[in-house]
Amino acid sequence: MSRYQQEFSRSISDPEAFWAQQAKRIPWFTPPTSILTYDEQGHARWYSDGEMNISHAALDHHVEQGRGDQPAIYWDSPVTQQKSTLTFRQLCDQVARFAGALKQLGVEKGDRVVIYMPMVPEALVAMFACARLGAVHSVVFGGFAPHELSIRIDDAQPKVIVAASCGVEVDKVLPYKPIIDEALQLSAHAPDATVILQREACLADLGAKDHDWQQLIEQAEWAECVPVKATDPLYVLYTSGTTGKPKGIVRDTGGYAVALHYSMEAIYDMAPGEVFFSASDVGWVVGHSYIVYAPLLMGCSTVVYEGKPIKTPDSGAFWRLIQEYRVKSFFTAPTAFRAIKKEDPEGAQLERYDISSLKALYLAGERLDPPTFHWLDDLLDVPVIDHWWQTETGWPIAANMRGIEPMPTKAGSATVPVSGFNVQILDRDGESTGPMEQGSVVIKQPLPPGCLTGVWGDPQRFHSAYMAAFPGYYLTGDGGYFDDDGYLFIMGRTDDVINVAGHRLSTGEMEEVVGSHPAVAECAVIGIHDELKGQVPIGLVIPKDSFQGDEVTLEEELIARVRAQIGPIACFKQVLVVSRLPKTRSGKILRKLLRSIADGKEFGVPSTIDDPASLQDVHDIMLERNVGAADQARPT
Ligand code: COA
Ligand code: AMP
Repeated sequence: MSRYQQEFSRSISDPEAFWAQQAKRIPWFTPPTSILTYDEQGHARWYSDGEMNISHAALDHHVEQGRGDQPAIYWDSPVTQQKSTLTFRQLCDQVARFAGALKQLGVEKGDRVVIYMPMVPEALVAMFACARLGAVHSVVFGGFAPHELSIRIDDAQPKVIVAASCGVEVDKVLPYKPIIDEALQLSAHAPDATVILQREACLADLGAKDHDWQQLIEQAEWAECVPVKATDPLYVLYTSGTTGKPKGIVRDTGGYAVALHYSMEAIYDMAPGEVFFSASDVGWVVGHSYIVYAPLLMGCSTVVYEGKPIKTPDSGAFWRLIQEYRVKSFFTAPTAFRAIKKEDPEGAQLERYDISSLKALYLAGERLDPPTFHWLDDLLDVPVIDHWWQTETGWPIAANMRGIEPMPTKAGSATVPVSGFNVQILDRDGESTGPMEQGSVVIKQPLPPGCLTGVWGDPQRFHSAYMAAFPGYYLTGDGGYFDDDGYLFIMGRTDDVINVAGHRLSTGEMEEVVGSHPAVAECAVIGIHDELKGQVPIGLVIPKDSFQGDEVTLEEELIARVRAQIGPIACFKQVLVVSRLPKTRSGKILRKLLRSIADGKEFGVPSTIDDPASLQDVHDIMLERNVGAADQARPT
């Protein structure tokens, strides 16, 4: 057996022994004696009698161990022309003080705090400060509109909101305070206070319940770490599901810390003192796990980048960062490299920089499409590694576990299941498929440490969304297959979730927004292939019979509505008014068929279709409006 196979087999055949050993790698206040138990619904609970605090494990512990003067955060912000470095000692001090400030505002163990901040070091300070008090943070990505923020505020019911006065994008400053004020007006829940980090690019007007970050932290007292149970929630992170209501994914503390620490060695091949750079955003799971918690738990330095892959100032930005901070492992989304490839197809920018510190490049967030894989593989002298995971799992489900044993890569594959993830492919009847046969990708229970422990405030949804389809298995929502060598290929979602520039969005949610327009009788939103962003949404709408207005105006209003309610990151930029939509006789819109036409695939006309002519109608309109590759679509 290869080293990978031995490691993986041990994790599956005796998970308790495997994860008991890994738990010894992190500092506990009370080490766990109980490794794996199950709650009343049969979901795995890891280390239930262990006590720790992740802020202690990632910060105080390293200071105590002599890493106090090592950089913890390299902040690099080309959009504001600023850079700074925070050592472990300085970061620990800021976190302890900000925790003291939150305490003064009444935040206690178990309280929620919503964080709405761009890529600034203070976002990490706020997250760790919550963790230090045992409070539960919920970070909301800055590209979400007030309506989305208000949904999360109402669901999480935070005691305090922590925000910055603005975010800075490539060519614009985005004031955050008006977004927060509008979100609070829309929310039923009212937090006690808001803390605002004033940024020079745009100062916010502070109201009666608003506090200035700087003033608070100057007066605050150092707060010690509050011991929490390993099973206590560290954060709630909302992600798109198939309905309009996002799911609040609940992450525990101890299992997450153990899993992240393990992954830093086993997958990313990192050691304390080395530099890790993940070009994502703290608003996404990649940011939570691999900008904030994992690198610092491991005693590595993390690069916090407030910029884009291109235009800040050019497509050499990532190479510059790798050179400047001597980055060993770099992680981003394939869409970022598609953007770079478009601007710099020959990779000429790379010649300006010395990236010899880089040992591997990791990509996730969407499938690493083979053309982008080959482009990178030809350009770089280091392994290019696709790895697959989701908000729910918190760390990779499939990867090339380089820290255990590097394996040859295959274009289009996320390589093999990671230790602890018993990945299976099931057909519709729940039977295992053979090699090369596509099906639903599931994970046999128990899920390893680090994975979701519930959906915030909705235990039933955890069961119905993930556990009900195939009893005994967690449903990932992705389709895929194993090849003859046991390599896993993830081919895309089997539900209404789409992936736009590495951002996970729900077409169901967009349909709710479009359908709420008074002139719309019926609608479908589908994700179609896009060269740069992987997928983009388009809407197909049938106006009400009473609709008298002009169609162009309606289309514009619907685009504006999605932008205002969900946010600009939805990239909802095209709507087609149609007179009918293809449906089954039972009235279900044939969305998959619509996607096939837009993506220029061959499509079969199902026998269950109610009105075959509707298909031709939609195809004609897509051709007329130059949608995707509709000109190449052919009925079979
Ligand atoms: N706050 C506010 N608005 C934001 C935002 C943020 N944090 N991030 C993006 N937006 C806005 C953008 O300004 C843009 O608005 P516009 O329609 O007014 O221009 C819109 O959301 C879409 O942004 P984006 O998806 O970033 O598209 P882009 O065309 O500006 O850039 C890429 C394309 C590929 C460079 C960019 O999508 C990118 O860097 N992607 C990588 C994403 C990533 O790292 N994901 C990791 C998840 S694991
Ligand atoms: P998120 O929860 O935002 O991380 O999105 C998770 C989803 O993104 C997964 O369910 C997949 O559909 C997709 N995804 C992420 N990484 C990959 C990958 N490496 N290959 C294929 N799909 C991926």
